[in-house]
Amino acid sequence: MSDKNATVNLNGANLDMPVHQGSVGPEVVDIRKFYAQTGAFTYDPGFTSTASCESGLTYIDGGEGVLLHRGYPIGQLAEHSSFMEVAYLLLNDELPSQDELNDFTYTITRHTMLHEQLMQFYQGFRRDAHPMAIMCGVVGALSAFYHDSTDIADPEHRKISSHRLIAKMPTIAAAAYKYSIGQPFLYPDNSLSYTGNFLRMTFGVPAEPYEIHPAIERALDRIFILHADHEQNASTSTVRLAGSSGANPFACIAAGIACLWGPAHGGANEAALNMLREIGTPDKIPHYIERAKDKNDPFRLMGFGHRVYKNYDPRATVMQETVREVFDALKVTDPVFETARQLEEMALNDDYFKEKKLFPNVDFYSGVILSAIGFPTTMFTALFALARTVGWVAQWNEMISDPGQKIGRPRQLYTGPTQRDYIPLDKR
Ligand code: ACO
Repeated sequence: MSDKNATVNLNGANLDMPVHQGSVGPEVVDIRKFYAQTGAFTYDPGFTSTASCESGLTYIDGGEGVLLHRGYPIGQLAEHSSFMEVAYLLLNDELPSQDELNDFTYTITRHTMLHEQLMQFYQGFRRDAHPMAIMCGVVGALSAFYHDSTDIADPEHRKISSHRLIAKMPTIAAAAYKYSIGQPFLYPDNSLSYTGNFLRMTFGVPAEPYEIHPAIERALDRIFILHADHEQNASTSTVRLAGSSGANPFACIAAGIACLWGPAHGGANEAALNMLREIGTPDKIPHYIERAKDKNDPFRLMGFGHRVYKNYDPRATVMQETVREVFDALKVTDPVFETARQLEEMALNDDYFKEKKLFPNVDFYSGVILSAIGFPTTMFTALFALARTVGWVAQWNEMISDPGQKIGRPRQLYTGPTQRDYIPLDKR
């Protein structure tokens, strides 16, 4: 907190508002007393200028293309760390010691099974249900099964429910996939890594042993790291807002999944690959670039642009490297990668994209990789949800632990009719 103030002159009165400086990043004008002192609201639809909370988890400098988790650059975490270690880091303040990591991994591994009755929930969905529809339903339903960890005022309950959510997400997502293709669900195998277990539950069958490809396991683990948290994005803000009312964590994460599903957010990876497949060959790229620039055409380059990054998304850099690794490991020669690469190059050299500072985001290449591994496009956002659960629960915990936490309750600029008298039906 600083001694600096920002002054607003409104209706002839001057209001001083404290200006806070975080450990890094832009100054923040504290407008909490603005309404009480001026009788006016501030207006910021889409929250383009609003810091909705104080947080110590993740820092983004969109102009410079920087992403830090508890201070550690995402590139270093992606290269040297594991998803379990990053999960520990986000849930706690520091990187774990070897013993702490072993204990944490052991705990998560012991929560991977789903209540047997919960497995029967799947039968209520159509076979062609989108995995995200199943995820919203099944994750929300966890609150009906794990009553012993829903007292949000108890830190131990919060910890257990956070561990349960992180641990059960791969089982829930893999079962959604198995259900869609009519194969039997596989129970978790606790001898495997978090990511290896997910691969086996997704692609294995009971009739034969499943061999985990180490390069694929590593690549997918890295994709999970890249998606673990991303500050106050739409789905995280949804989780915080739902949690601010005191709702149980399972319900809050189900709300986050619903928000993530949209094509402007987590659904973009699915939309990006569909777009690349539609473009098909590099000679069609100029046509699609023209469409993306045309104000009268709703088409946008999916996987391009970001509310915060006005530079290359650092996660996209790691993704691009990972494509090559996965393609080499699996000896894949999908022309879609060449289309993606040329589309990126052409867009980055186009004045429209340059002026608007539109760069590839994390979703541009993730679909190409996930498809090469064997995931159908409908599973892409489910994988994103699986990984982002770590960030959601960490942010939710941070919020609930804050003694000054209040229910989130924005106001509005009302433009509807003013008060008028009810007209009886026969007089309308
Ligand atoms: N293709 C073409 N034009 C674009 C694109 C795009 N992908 N993205 C933004 N623009 C243009 C807009 O038309 C707008 O132009 P204008 O100023 O002339 O009206 C300008 O750039 C700013 O775009 P906004 O939509 O106002 O920016 P906002 O910050 O609200 O949106 C968003 C960011 C939603 C990510 C947007 O860039 C987009 O729709 N991208 C495609 C979807 C996508 O990839 N989403 C994934 C985001 S990352 C994630 O969730 C993990």
